[in-house]
Amino acid sequence: MSAAAQTLTPSAEARSFLDREHRLLIGGEWVKPARPEQIEVIDPATEARLATVAGAGAEDVDRAVKAARQAFRGEWSRLTSYERTRLIWKLADELEANLPLATELEVLDNGMPKMVAMYSIAKFGGEFLRYYAGWATKIHGETIPVSPAEARNGDSLTYTRREPIGVVGAIIPWNAPLIMAILKLAPALAAGCTVVLKPAEQTPLTALFLGELVRRAGIPPGVVNILPGYGESAGAALAAHPDVDKIAFTGSTEVGKKIILAAAGNLKRVTLELGGKSPMVVFPDADLERVIPGVTRGAFFLQGQNCMAGTRLFVHEQIFDTVVERVAAMANGFRIGQGLRDDVDLGPLISAEQRERVMGYVDAGRNSGATLVCGGEPLPGKGFFMRPTLFSHTTMDMKIAREEIFGPVLCVQSFADSDLQKVADEANRSIYGLSGSVWTRDISVGHRMAAMIDSGQVSINCHAAVDPAIPFGGNKQSGWGREFGREGLEPYLKTKATTVLY
Ligand code: NAI
Ligand code: MG
Repeated sequence: MSAAAQTLTPSAEARSFLDREHRLLIGGEWVKPARPEQIEVIDPATEARLATVAGAGAEDVDRAVKAARQAFRGEWSRLTSYERTRLIWKLADELEANLPLATELEVLDNGMPKMVAMYSIAKFGGEFLRYYAGWATKIHGETIPVSPAEARNGDSLTYTRREPIGVVGAIIPWNAPLIMAILKLAPALAAGCTVVLKPAEQTPLTALFLGELVRRAGIPPGVVNILPGYGESAGAALAAHPDVDKIAFTGSTEVGKKIILAAAGNLKRVTLELGGKSPMVVFPDADLERVIPGVTRGAFFLQGQNCMAGTRLFVHEQIFDTVVERVAAMANGFRIGQGLRDDVDLGPLISAEQRERVMGYVDAGRNSGATLVCGGEPLPGKGFFMRPTLFSHTTMDMKIAREEIFGPVLCVQSFADSDLQKVADEANRSIYGLSGSVWTRDISVGHRMAAMIDSGQVSINCHAAVDPAIPFGGNKQSGWGREFGREGLEPYLKTKATTVLY
């Protein structure tokens, strides 16, 4: 097993997109940044430079927020909800019509396998947009029977309106770049907000491509503004901007805390999707034909660079050795290589820096007394590849079992207890609470454990079930609020109560 020797080159269509001059999308126009700043975009599979992209600074953020405010007050606010539905639906059509190019750009930029990119863009691009397109026409308030002190009974009416919160700043990470952009745009547009989107500096390409599609879909100028830029400059300026009404952030817990502090200036609303260290708990009666692929993919999907990753595997001692052996065998069998190839299960990590961070954790694991069962090494040659890594006999005191690694590293520990609460207590020994899974044929054990796991999301006999309609978000330091589903619309709306006396 090695990084695929043969390297595929980008298609002519992708090449022509990459070679363009990449500017900022502000007020419906592709504009140059106020100060020349360049971001070099690197292909993590080959380490080759893919493109050079203009990076936004504080002045550009200010310009984009003004454009978003103007659009919020202008034509956009006068559209009916039916017209918003149609525009969001049109964006989904544009995305699907351009699926091959969107997929290729995502693979080049992020490194993920082509099949993963294509499925996730079609599923979470197309379907997510259409799901929220449907919500636009279903936003409404209530009539409430009250009688204020001033009114005789029956001589007053109170009703609520759900209004869009205003200008939204969306700051997203690099692990699923296009999907992350859509997860923010869809509910914001359905609610009638306008958006300034800052993609991660590592992966700006598909956000720029999405900007093109937004224009083609006929979404009015200024409703969606796209500013590639660094976190410390563009991101921080957006989070602190006094005329931004809400920040929707996905990324590290560390930066999430900075966002909260920056948002305090104007008390803007904040939703946060942060880190995770999700448990997968396997009982001895579980169906191993489902468990093995389920937990192995749960751990190593997107090379473990995913906030829902199941990174702590708790296995009952009766089946511990079998599960460890079979998970390691499956992980060892994954084909690692350039995501553009069809015969690849795992791509590279996003950057040299990220691989070094992850390797630092592998060293910590080796020194902590855990057993390295497989992996633990980078692949030689170009590209930030690394073998999927499994440590057994970990304990919750170890750094590798406590901290979010965001790489292909799975920690396995056994349990003997039949006391479910004790098992749950161990699974809950984390500052995070994003996802989790329980594997058993006993339906009451499944439901009881699911109720005891302190996470925003728990799956039984699968890991991290995702669908546009399933609420998603974290407890504890995994975040604030929920995305997806009806609940995912709420943070983009505010309620106005109006009372009339007659
Ligand atoms: P990060 O949290 O720094 O980056 C996420 C986004 O926040 C990017 O768009 C970045 O430009 C922006 N950002 C950075 N600093 C900012 C600031 N001061 N103000 C506003 N925006 C800012 O994540 P990074 O450094 O790329 O990855 C480091 C670690 O963070 C990973 O190893 C992983 O553990 C964690 N992470 C977790 C993610 C998740 O979804 N749970 C996603 C990305 C990273
Ligand atoms: Mg960072």
